[in-house]
Amino acid sequence: MVDLKKTALHYQNYLKLDKILHAQFPMSKELGDESHDEMLFIIIHQAYELWFKQIIHELKSVKDTIKDEKIDEKEIIKVVKRTDRIKEILNLLVKQIDVLETMTSIDFLDFRDYLSPASGFQSHQFRKIEVMLGLKINQRHSFGNCPYHDQFSVEEKKEILTLEDQQSIFDLVEKWLNRNPFVNYEDFDFVEHYTTAIENMMSKEMNSIKSSDILTDNEKNIRIKMLEGSKEYYNEIVSKASFEEKNSNAFSKNALISALLIFQYKDQPILHMPYRFLKNLLDIDHIISNWRFRHAQMVDKMLGKKIGTGGSDGADYLKNTVYQNRIFNDISKISTLLLSRSFMPELPDKIKSKLGFSN
Ligand code: HEM
Repeated sequence: MVDLKKTALHYQNYLKLDKILHAQFPMSKELGDESHDEMLFIIIHQAYELWFKQIIHELKSVKDTIKDEKIDEKEIIKVVKRTDRIKEILNLLVKQIDVLETMTSIDFLDFRDYLSPASGFQSHQFRKIEVMLGLKINQRHSFGNCPYHDQFSVEEKKEILTLEDQQSIFDLVEKWLNRNPFVNYEDFDFVEHYTTAIENMMSKEMNSIKSSDILTDNEKNIRIKMLEGSKEYYNEIVSKASFEEKNSNAFSKNALISALLIFQYKDQPILHMPYRFLKNLLDIDHIISNWRFRHAQMVDKMLGKKIGTGGSDGADYLKNTVYQNRIFNDISKISTLLLSRSFMPELPDKIKSKLGFSN
């Protein structure tokens, strides 16, 4: 008779719970007076690292799916699903800060001295996520001229530098956008059509400001200046001679125009999934910024002006990363250029039929 209890895969074994549940060793217990809240501190970090592992798993799949010169349409559905999942995990990670904040500053100080010099700075997986998404080393907010990878062992440093040399999701998305066939399709030139439409929209807006009976002259001047700023931004994009001119943290002209077309015509069936993919990347960037902000605020409450265990100026350093370390800024800027439906240039029939399901 086979003993099923011995041979069948058991919940405990499958999940390796013997390892996971015996991996919490509060330093306060080992070195001094046991502090109750250190268990929460350890478990919450471990939970983060497990989720980071899942995010990396999803990002690898996204990178692998979009790395080829030709990507099947069905594959875009796959990357949308992957990035939907990453968003949900990240939202959960922001929410976890609420749990950590049930610990007060004094509860934390009870065991903080035992942790030094360990710090979130040394989270290799967090850095991998940033690098895989496309955060470039020259773009990062850093302190004291210390490259972030100085925190790692030789092996970990080698791994992260290899990752830095590979194409990130930012790089691959840019290449994919550059290949959008609808920007110049036969004799249809999207930029030409769009420029006329954007000029019409802006001149209507300009006229309504100038002819307003409600606004003062000063208010009018402020609004006119802002509107001219948006116009300048559009001209800047369309007049870029080539995409070689771009800096490494911005999309090329072609990629930006292509993303603009996708955002503007997102309701066309073929463009809808590409739109959702781009929107997800923007959301991921924003949710990571939310996490950075919430983490910085929590550190503010816990530490005030105290320096971090990793040696930075703590909350001040973290606050600076909120905007500076964003990756897909160019996708968020696209909204500046979007036209309301009434100003959208009508697409020629031959393009419409290519973008629909009827051809
Ligand atoms: C009491 C709770 C926490 C405090 C007081 C705290 C404090 C800090 C401080 C001061 C830094 C700046 C680096 C330094 O000088 O050490 C930092 C960085 C960091 N922490 Fe936390 N942290 C806490 C919880 C967490 C949790 C739960 C995570 C989840 C993984 C985390 C992840 C990170 C990461 C990834 C960085 C690097 C951020 C970057 O360089 O952009 N921290 N933390």
